[in-house]
Amino acid sequence: MRAFYLFEFCDQEWVPNSVRECLFECMDSCNSGLRSFNRKVANTVIEMARNVGLKKIIELGAGRAPITTCLAEDDRSEGLTLIPCDITPNQAVYRQLAAKYEDRVQPIFSSVDITDTHEQLDSAVLVLAGMMHHIPFELRPAVLEALSQSSSKIAMFEPLKRSLLSIFLATLAVFPALLLPVVRLHRPGRLRRFLWCWLLPVVPPMFAWDGVVSCLRQWTEGEWQAEFDRLGDLARAVEIHSQSNSLQVIWSGKEIAITHAPPTVPTS
Ligand SMILES: C[S@@+](CC[C@H](N)C(=O)[O-])C[C@H]1O[C@@H](n2cnc3c(N)ncnc32)[C@H](O)[C@@H]1O
Repeated sequence: MRAFYLFEFCDQEWVPNSVRECLFECMDSCNSGLRSFNRKVANTVIEMARNVGLKKIIELGAGRAPITTCLAEDDRSEGLTLIPCDITPNQAVYRQLAAKYEDRVQPIFSSVDITDTHEQLDSAVLVLAGMMHHIPFELRPAVLEALSQSSSKIAMFEPLKRSLLSIFLATLAVFPALLLPVVRLHRPGRLRRFLWCWLLPVVPPMFAWDGVVSCLRQWTEGEWQAEFDRLGDLARAVEIHSQSNSLQVIWSGKEIAITHAPPTVPTS
């Protein structure tokens, strides 16, 4: 199946914030509610941080910071610093997290674009959950190269693949989006959910579209492997795990001391 880089609504500046919030909440409902994708990502990275002795976990392209949230709720993150950041930081969510878990959550409130280099991204576990497909194809090699120059451990997870099965499942995402106002009935934001999911129901088809486009933007296992072949010794201890509807790619930057940690368990 050919890859395409079509637009996603959640990346568009003209999309009103209230619609964007609903799209992100749909993502949360699918990946934290319907599936335990976010919890599994958090389990994998917390074990990784312990095994390699890194004290910082940075969630890149964090959106509503679902991984930082799972990590902060987990007692095993005591003593770690959890840092959500994004090219468009969700400052309201970050503020709530930092207030609730002031001993460990330290968000970056300014924009962090991973297509630029950032010193703060050194000596950390870097988590990229459901975000790598937002990087245009032509920029991905440079991003991987920059991340690999670090003394960090890099963990990339995608909850979808470029496959017919994933595309089919993404079209079904209209249903959780239609249920969003009920599922989040007791949370702030009721009016905007009623408006955009039921009265003017634009969010369910937009969310399904974003899901299908996300599938088409994915690199396959073979394309990831080809990229690591190109990087050579820069990226070390590469692990690529593909499951029916998800992909996990983990590697070490060139400066990190390689420990003999057990292999990571794939998320599904
Ligand atoms: C599909 S959302 C995923 C959000 C979150 N990781 C999750 O799993 O719910 C993709 C996120 O990547 C962010 N993003 C897109 N391009 C980026 C870039 N160049 N640098 C950093 N973040 C980026 C977007 O702002 C958005 O929050």
